[in-house]
Amino acid sequence: MPRASRKKASGTKATIDTLLKENRRYKPPSSFVKTATANKSAVYTTAAKNPTAFWAKMAGELVWKKKWSKVLEWKAPDAKWFVGGKLNVTESCLDRHLTNGNKNKAALIWEGEPGDRKTFTYWDLYRQVNKLANAFKSLGVTKGDRVAIYLPMIPELVIAMLACARIGAIHSVVFGGFSPESLRDRINDSQCKLLITADGGYRRGQIIPLKHDADVALADCPSVEHVIIVKRGDFLLRVKEGRDHWFHRLMQEADQYCPPVYVDSEHPLFILYTSGTTGKPKGIIHTCGGYLTGTYATSKLVFDLKEDDVFWCTADCGWVTGHSYIVYGPMANGVTQVMYEGAPDWPDQDRFWQLVEKMNVTVFYTAPTAIRAFMRWGREWPDKHDLSSLRLLGTVGEPINPEAWVWYHDAIGGKKCPIVDTWWQTETGHIMITPLPGVTSTKPGSATRPFPGIEAKILDDEGKEIKKGGGYLAITKPWPGMLRGIWGDRQRFIDTYWSKWPGIYFPGDGARIDEDKYFWILGRVDDVINTAGHRISTMEVESALVEHQSVAEAAVVGIPHELKGEALAAFVTLKDGVERSDKLCHQLIDFVTRKIGAIARPDQMVCTPDLPKTRSGKIMRRLLRDIATGRVLGDTTTLADPAVIDRLKRQYEED
Ligand code: WT7
Repeated sequence: MPRASRKKASGTKATIDTLLKENRRYKPPSSFVKTATANKSAVYTTAAKNPTAFWAKMAGELVWKKKWSKVLEWKAPDAKWFVGGKLNVTESCLDRHLTNGNKNKAALIWEGEPGDRKTFTYWDLYRQVNKLANAFKSLGVTKGDRVAIYLPMIPELVIAMLACARIGAIHSVVFGGFSPESLRDRINDSQCKLLITADGGYRRGQIIPLKHDADVALADCPSVEHVIIVKRGDFLLRVKEGRDHWFHRLMQEADQYCPPVYVDSEHPLFILYTSGTTGKPKGIIHTCGGYLTGTYATSKLVFDLKEDDVFWCTADCGWVTGHSYIVYGPMANGVTQVMYEGAPDWPDQDRFWQLVEKMNVTVFYTAPTAIRAFMRWGREWPDKHDLSSLRLLGTVGEPINPEAWVWYHDAIGGKKCPIVDTWWQTETGHIMITPLPGVTSTKPGSATRPFPGIEAKILDDEGKEIKKGGGYLAITKPWPGMLRGIWGDRQRFIDTYWSKWPGIYFPGDGARIDEDKYFWILGRVDDVINTAGHRISTMEVESALVEHQSVAEAAVVGIPHELKGEALAAFVTLKDGVERSDKLCHQLIDFVTRKIGAIARPDQMVCTPDLPKTRSGKIMRRLLRDIATGRVLGDTTTLADPAVIDRLKRQYEED
């Protein structure tokens, strides 16, 4: 196992080298420029001169009940956007489309993995959201209450999010691939009152038993008063009388209209949990006015959304990408979207291209990990389909290597579609660094420039600006979609994002800036692992491992992986008297998978008598990474016991 992965590792290293030498340039095609919403570089200079005016103009295109009196109030690290403004975000996403010509336009064209299909017009969606909002109310949910959503990628997921927004409740979507324990912790952290789930969902022909898993979680969630179950299939489940309710029954009984609850611009819209370096996931808080403005503006200008576009963002709504670029941004723009439930290789490796052809997708947004998988599966799959409807491609989630970028451009985009490589985070709420497809020339591997109204710099540890070269990425001015805090943990909010430099946001990524002022994101500077498009904290996996009866200590590191971006390698020390065996290693891998979910499944499990530590007792993951990728060891001077390394290397070869 170690040998094979070393090969991959050095391959990836070479990719990083090419990235640094990248000289290719792609100008926006003139046909694209002609119709693009943003097609003059003045959009950058105007916004830079007066960023708040730029954002206020964007906010002015949304529906407000009461206009704001002040665009921004900034007292680092606290921002208030559109102060004094009142709104309900569903009016911009739904109500206004009933009177602007979009009423009978398809809002969502959904396809289930087995091939079933449903289409919702804006009117249909409006009706469904109103009814579900009333059902929520009938179960006692009111403004400010937290609602947990644990659903597969079915339309009810979108409807549930918007129904919360309709009544000012705060949604907390938990990705359907998370384990019962992860769900339980997230529900308990924000004390959700209601959970909406489904009997199951399809993934690679298998059924994910969501309600069953939810029941396991709920055994330990005293705050949850009611559960709503969407019937996706005919999957076995237990219904707890009094607590559990069928979605379709509630909807039958619910009133068709629910008046929108108007909230303050700064009222929380949702909480979304993201992994941090210290194990416990952080509940990132986003609010209404600023977040909607940011997602609306970026959807409009980065994806250049037009009346007749068919937009497909392949993300799951369990991640921020689905929140911002399936639900809020595109719907505020009134666009038609494709939504798909299942895996890209089910039943065959051309499922996505089949969908693009069938649905006439014009703008397509996916992740580098998916693009690398498409590359491996081969060009014959996209080549079987007519992809000529595509006019713009996007990518997000991790740095994209130039090879993958160029492949995407040629094989999927037919060499005619601009690519927008969009850098942002759960915490930033919306796209921050990105090309504007009708303005910005692109370089494969670079996210190019900050979006208009965003100010980013590369800084060193002291906060000194690096004008050319690598350092830490920093966001130096407040922006509308910025996180307003971490649920229940003010100190962690300050420590994580606002302590590196005074008044400046620290995203935790390394980046470099080149002679054209283009940004190249280099990845996380901490220990978060980015695997198959998911960000996993090493600490979360380590905490899971040490819960196993045989494990004394664990350290997990990310190692380069051709497809997933990074894979997990786990190093564990066993408790005294426990013997290392292949069976135990497999048990440990399964244990982690059960506890956290398949996304955290370690590719390598190494049992070692001891871990490399500093004198103060901190595990040196950096050295483990060096061992796992076969690199020459970095600085070992802070190591408490240098002999550990040789023992470890030997053990690694054996395992
Ligand atoms: C982290 C945020 C934003 C939605 C999906 C991930 C990495 C994201 C890019 C990009 C290089 C990227 C960063 C960032 N990342 N987009 N275009 N180029 N790296 O959201 O889970 O909050 O992860 O993903 O490291 O900090 P997230």
